[in-house]
Amino acid sequence: MLLLFLLEVATSRCLHDETQRSVSLLRPSFSKLHPDSRSSLPLPGSHDPRPLRIQAYYEGDPVSAAWDASGDGLRGVSRALAAVREATQRIQGVLAVPPVQGPLLLSRDSAQYCHAVWGDPDTPNYHRCSLLNPGYTGESCLGAKVPDAHLRGYALWPEQGPPQVVQPDGPGVQNADFLLYVRIAHTSKCHQEPSVIAYAAYCQLDLEDRPVAGAIVYCAQHLTSPSFSHNDLVMVTLHELFHALGFSGQLFKKWQDCPSGFSARENCSTRQQVTRRDKWGQLLLTTPNVSHSLAKHLGVSGVSLGVPLEEEGPLSSHWEARLLQGSIMTATFDGAQRTRLDPITLAAFKDSGWYQVNHSASEELLWGQGAGIEFGLVTTCGNDSSDFFCTGSGLGCHYLHLDKGNCSSDPMLEGCRMYKPLANGSECWKKENGLPDGAENPHGEIYHSQSRCFLANLSSQPPPEIKASHSSQIPHVKEAELTGRCYLHQCTQKEAYMVRVDGSPWVPCLPGKHIKIPGYFGLLYCPQGRLCQTNEGTKAVTSPSVSLSTQDLLFQLSLGLAGPSGYLLGKGQREELAEAVLQVLVNRSGTGRCYFHSPSITTDLVFTVHMLKSPGCQGPSVTVLYRTLILTLQEKPLEVYHGEASFTTEYSKLLVTSNRNSSMTRLFVSVGLCLLLLILVGTLGIVAYQKQATLRVGPSTPHHHQTHGTRGSTGIREV
Ligand SMILES: *[C@@H]1O[C@H](CO)[C@@H](O)[C@H](O)[C@H]1NC(C)=O
Ligand SMILES: *[C@@H]1O[C@H](CO)[C@@H](O)[C@H](O)[C@H]1NC(C)=O
Ligand SMILES: *[C@@H]1O[C@H](CO)[C@@H](O)[C@H](O)[C@H]1NC(C)=O
Ligand SMILES: *[C@@H]1O[C@H](CO)[C@@H](O)[C@H](O)[C@H]1NC(C)=O
Repeated sequence: MLLLFLLEVATSRCLHDETQRSVSLLRPSFSKLHPDSRSSLPLPGSHDPRPLRIQAYYEGDPVSAAWDASGDGLRGVSRALAAVREATQRIQGVLAVPPVQGPLLLSRDSAQYCHAVWGDPDTPNYHRCSLLNPGYTGESCLGAKVPDAHLRGYALWPEQGPPQVVQPDGPGVQNADFLLYVRIAHTSKCHQEPSVIAYAAYCQLDLEDRPVAGAIVYCAQHLTSPSFSHNDLVMVTLHELFHALGFSGQLFKKWQDCPSGFSARENCSTRQQVTRRDKWGQLLLTTPNVSHSLAKHLGVSGVSLGVPLEEEGPLSSHWEARLLQGSIMTATFDGAQRTRLDPITLAAFKDSGWYQVNHSASEELLWGQGAGIEFGLVTTCGNDSSDFFCTGSGLGCHYLHLDKGNCSSDPMLEGCRMYKPLANGSECWKKENGLPDGAENPHGEIYHSQSRCFLANLSSQPPPEIKASHSSQIPHVKEAELTGRCYLHQCTQKEAYMVRVDGSPWVPCLPGKHIKIPGYFGLLYCPQGRLCQTNEGTKAVTSPSVSLSTQDLLFQLSLGLAGPSGYLLGKGQREELAEAVLQVLVNRSGTGRCYFHSPSITTDLVFTVHMLKSPGCQGPSVTVLYRTLILTLQEKPLEVYHGEASFTTEYSKLLVTSNRNSSMTRLFVSVGLCLLLLILVGTLGIVAYQKQATLRVGPSTPHHHQTHGTRGSTGIREV
């Protein structure tokens, strides 16, 4: 069985079914040398299940101690063996079997070692080997040699009388329920299907048809490739081992039904019906636990659904990707980060009847969760009934929100489209995907281990429509499409989280809502049911520190306006007036508009604007700017014309709030305090406005840049 795993190019076939068909399957045999030696057969023994003991061998040696890795080839070997060790350990925590009693001893294939048998039914050695095959070199499983020590012996029989032993029975393997032979090679299959990382097959079954031996072949060229991490290799190995342990199109029909419970093995029998086709011709696995588990996952409990299998020729050993994207048993692999050991796969092992399953080892599958009975059908995936699928070809977010993604399809999706991770650089959680220090970051993206992908159209610059039109009518602002962007997130509790954009404070994100971010134009969408789904993350993530550098300080400036009495403004008019006041304020400050965000005006004419130095903003620090503005406002109120009316700012109604140190400091600026400020600012030498019409806006100092560049150390700490 093997599979194919392909990263990034989700177009490869899984080789498991094809490989499995090439294996000549062996069943246990009683020793022909010692007819009374039944005791060393891999008979299921005590019925009390114990964690599945997989013993792995590489080139005849047990895979145990860490390999000394030097040289590329050896490094590949040690990576593969490390993955095998970890995968078999994980399986121990998931699957249990009635332990094999005594040593596990495998059968030999008599068709291999024997050239001819005695053909006369009247002779005592009828059907025993009369002529050895001179080319016999021992047993193998997918080309991996099985040591003689693990095998029964064989003999040459005369027409009458005792045999001439060629090879005695080996001692077998103690404390093993499954023997795994590991091979690392550039096989012809690896050559033909370059995207295949590994493939596997089972080679021997026990009396109840449970696989007891198998092999995994790693295609050597992938083992040294930096595109696969250790975790990727572990997941690939788990997938392959699951095929070899029973998740295989050719084994489904051998699954056991044990109506009296797992431990009453004598009442187990081969399942009657395992697969069927539904009315659309889709092949389904219909055993009870997988059906129940899928219904629960889709939120339609009570309905008995079969689980769709991917159609790959006559046999199917994978879940349908439209329905179970992200499950470890779909046919394509797209990275360990996006792969789950899901409950439906574990239910399949339970339905096999061979294993007791530890359901608490399952990992939540987000794809399709609660999405209803119609989810994943070719007929519904294009009609926007589920946001797991997309239409068109825009840039969005992969459904796990770890990556940005393109809306695209692949052969397994049969025309359905989803946001698939980009070919490279799409991971929000990889710092190295971010912009170099000091680069322009107009969308305020942050790449960090705690960053996730959000649909947003944030920009530190106003959209061109508004910029161009502040004085005349605001043209209809075209709904800008939201795009996948990377921002920092932090879980506060289950299904509740905050986001942070470069230079912004932490802002609570309301799942299912669009929110504004101080310092930015545009909106950010907070996904529902995707982030912070467990309580676990909450603790782990509290550390990205919220402390803001001076550059990040956020001020809220409120100014009362005096206008014609009895002048009532509607919502639209207030927005226009706010825009107009802001424009005058920006002109007065002599800086860019990038310091001012979210202007608004209340019905009783209090104008409010947030001041924060956005990334890319050239000019003084926001602290310097607001102090200077306060002084000029005292000196000379702003005058704003709106329609027929004129409005003037009232210095006595000026209120500045700052979020310094997260605790809000309110500065009610009285005239007295203002004088104080004047003196303070004067001593700092920032009185240029008195000599010039506007503030002097010098280029940022090198020191400023440095503060900016090292925000990582002052603002966000690595978790
Ligand atoms: C079952 O799985 C959980 C979670 O992985 C693990 O902590 C526990 O030890 C497992 N139980 C057994 C008996 O292996
Ligand atoms: C097996 O099935 C038989 C007949 O249904 C029943 O009498 C017996 O108790 C079962 N055995 C166990 C161990 O449950
Ligand atoms: C990532 O993609 C860009 C173009 O999209 C390309 O220039 C760059 O070399 C790629 N990087 C890697 C590591 O493949
Ligand atoms: C952002 O998108 C929203 C909703 O599509 C739209 O109303 C808004 O005008 C856009 N803002 C910017 C700055 O593009």
